[in-house]
Amino acid sequence: MFENMDKINAVITGVGGFVPEDVLTNEDISKLVDTTDEWIMTRVGIKERRILKGEGVGTSYMGIRAVKQLLEKTKVNPDEIEVILTATTTSDHHFPTTSSIIAYHTGCKNAMTFDLQGACAGFLYALETGANYIRSGRYTKVVVVAGDKMTAITDYQDRSTCPLFGDACGAVLLEPTTEEVGVMDTILRTDGVGYSHLIMKSGGSAYPPSHETVDNREHFVFQDGKYVFKYAVSYMADVAAEIAERNHLTHDDIAWIVPHQANLRIIDATAKRLGVDMEKVMINIQKYGNTSAGTIPICLWEWEDKLKKGDNLILAAFGAGFTWGAIYLKWGYDGKKA
Ligand SMILES: CC(C)(COP(=O)(O)OP(=O)(O)OC[C@H]1O[C@@H](n2cnc3c(N)ncnc32)[C@H](O)[C@@H]1OP(=O)(O)O)[C@@H](O)C(=O)NCCC(=O)NCCS
Repeated sequence: MFENMDKINAVITGVGGFVPEDVLTNEDISKLVDTTDEWIMTRVGIKERRILKGEGVGTSYMGIRAVKQLLEKTKVNPDEIEVILTATTTSDHHFPTTSSIIAYHTGCKNAMTFDLQGACAGFLYALETGANYIRSGRYTKVVVVAGDKMTAITDYQDRSTCPLFGDACGAVLLEPTTEEVGVMDTILRTDGVGYSHLIMKSGGSAYPPSHETVDNREHFVFQDGKYVFKYAVSYMADVAAEIAERNHLTHDDIAWIVPHQANLRIIDATAKRLGVDMEKVMINIQKYGNTSAGTIPICLWEWEDKLKKGDNLILAAFGAGFTWGAIYLKWGYDGKKA
């Protein structure tokens, strides 16, 4: 199919998504902890978030629905999918992988499956990884899933974190092309200064679960918000500016900024740094909160009908680790796939 000299680009050829129906409003949260709608809206920009309810229902529940929709929209047979790669911090279990559960329930019998953990930057890490499978020339249909059931690890007694998070999952299909579209450039970074400042301390191999870890509420997200904010606000804007500059993209060339949705003030800072008007920034934090790896694919899913082939998108995210990064994506098709 491809001549030796052709450069293979990895392009997104479809988007699926799933957000749970149940809504948790700021009003609801103010009945659980000492907070107000006004504080949450001014400090973070979240009005409500979706929560996945039900016994034994994990991230795969949303991933399965996102992938089923993706396969329907792209009219791709599940047998053709070669790789399913899921970015999540809230896998259904430590093992087996969430990707293997998603593959089973979507009929993707021929896929290799694995999970990847990049916290809130997980979609960017997974998109670059999936793109490399395509660029290698050995794979032609890679599904990248990203999302989290953050409410499973949210402490509804901690007012500094419980308003922040929600549940959602998105999925994209990556295919090869020789056209100049797709994942054009990527910067991914890590800095361990974040380690103890944004962490779910227990439940892993360092601190296995015990009565004590449960009593100490160590199976929930801990975040030193001020410390994390300081890094997030500069690192996310820096990396977005760096990728725009090295690809010679001015604010006029950028069709959309697709930022991780953790805090409206961080999103604002990123847009300002790039000199891009807020109308060109995808923002749905008010409806969904921070769904960790889910935020960016859910934005692409919601904005799909407005996207046109050749649009320059700058994706940027920051999360625990710290891990962060930016991707320059040239969109590959016009409008919404039915
Ligand atoms: C979490 C975050 C919204 C908190 O906002 P902030 O302006 O930094 O707020 P602070 O944590 O400094 O708290 C300010 C005050 O509000 C109080 N406060 C915290 N949560 C509150 C709430 N839900 N309602 C009311 N008051 C609250 C604090 O107790 C503190 O009071 P004090 O000054 O009397 O001690 C913000 O720090 C943030 O967005 N951090 C980064 C998140 C992020 O990007 N994470 C990475 C990706 S997951």
